[in-house]
Amino acid sequence: MKSIIEIDFKGVTPFVESGEIELWCEKALNSLNLLIEEGSNKSSPTDWIDLPTEDFTSIFKRFDSLKREWLSKGVEFVVSVGVGGSYQGARAFYEAFVDSFHTFDKREGLSLVFAGHTLSPLYLSELLQFLKKREFAVVVISKSGDTLESAVALNLLRGELQRRYGTEEEGRRIAAVTSIGKGALWEIAHKEGWHLYDIPKGVGGRFSLFTSAALLPLSLAGIDVKEIIRGAADGRALSLVRSIENGAVRYAAVRNLLYSKGKKIEVMAAYTPKLYFFLEWWRQLFGESEGKRGRAIFPTIACYTTDLHSLGQYLQEGERTIFETVLSFGEQSGKEIIERVEGNSSLPHYLEGVSIGKVNSIVKEGVAKAHIEGGLPLISIEGGLLREYNLGALAYLFQFSVALSAKLLGVDPFNQPGVEAYKRESLYLLKGEGE
Ligand code: PA5
Repeated sequence: MKSIIEIDFKGVTPFVESGEIELWCEKALNSLNLLIEEGSNKSSPTDWIDLPTEDFTSIFKRFDSLKREWLSKGVEFVVSVGVGGSYQGARAFYEAFVDSFHTFDKREGLSLVFAGHTLSPLYLSELLQFLKKREFAVVVISKSGDTLESAVALNLLRGELQRRYGTEEEGRRIAAVTSIGKGALWEIAHKEGWHLYDIPKGVGGRFSLFTSAALLPLSLAGIDVKEIIRGAADGRALSLVRSIENGAVRYAAVRNLLYSKGKKIEVMAAYTPKLYFFLEWWRQLFGESEGKRGRAIFPTIACYTTDLHSLGQYLQEGERTIFETVLSFGEQSGKEIIERVEGNSSLPHYLEGVSIGKVNSIVKEGVAKAHIEGGLPLISIEGGLLREYNLGALAYLFQFSVALSAKLLGVDPFNQPGVEAYKRESLYLLKGEGE
């Protein structure tokens, strides 16, 4: 199968010795073997590996029937409630494929708004205010079922639903995505008769993109979830190839090679705000999977050209502990040729007749040249057109690659023991306050 995602390491070669990339690729291939071995073990957290090859027919039918039910009630907005892995995936794909100004127009079908990812009282009260004049329903997503942020937001939204529609109708307007048979959310959803969807046992939060955790809200919003899964399935087939040409293997290898040379920060950049939340999804996936035992590359993100006017100076001349990975996707738009307007114009003549996409990609080329010359190793990822299929394939590749990369680092990609520390401290304070 021809690779859907082209990863180019030419921008890295000036910073490494000959043969080093291949050496690290061999190590990453060992990690791949370990991962597959782990995957064959029944009780391991690697069930996400084969998810895209499962039969989604009946689950997609259930999504469609819920959508029809809510549309028939006049629902316009779905509040997607969740945080971390129960938030980032849905947000990433929604913002990539929905019209950027969707909130100002009435979309056909259901629009998403998000909650449960913040405890900001102002955000939450503005959300309630916004929903007051609109018909809405709620999808609450939590694998554990007891996450603080989601519980607070859900409680507020339930209050509003109960006031407006009474408790019976409230129940028809909530869908819960959680671990079936386990946890506080499942118990309530089960007792109250809410619509229920599963996050499978062997799939951790940040690896749950290809489950109902992200696919339900996306499907309700009219994003092509079948194409996401088709892309992920092809991304999986490519990621499993035992070869040092495998993109997931090479990306994991090169990141770790650069880390061994003191490049401690990775800036994942894209040249479109449409991918801002996809970058955030990547940051959570890599940060939470790798940042353990005093090690790992610090993952950060930048949206160009916007951030060239904020981080550009640092990237060009700041401390040389950074490398950059640049994501490129083609965008199709109806009207993008730059034409001179009537009257005086500040438009430089060389821009006339050029497409905005071309200007964006020429700037990208210039930035890459300047950054490499300035001492930033650069990995370039070309994903084809910005479509559900291609982004699904890349998301799978990143999931697979982070698992390999964490293994190269010697950390467990699937746990997050560090997150418990702040939760424990907060809980202690919260309980103390109540006493
Ligand atoms: O990746 C993870 O496991 C975390 O980011 C979780 O997704 C996040 O903490 C939310 O947890 P839950 O889905 O249990 O509410």
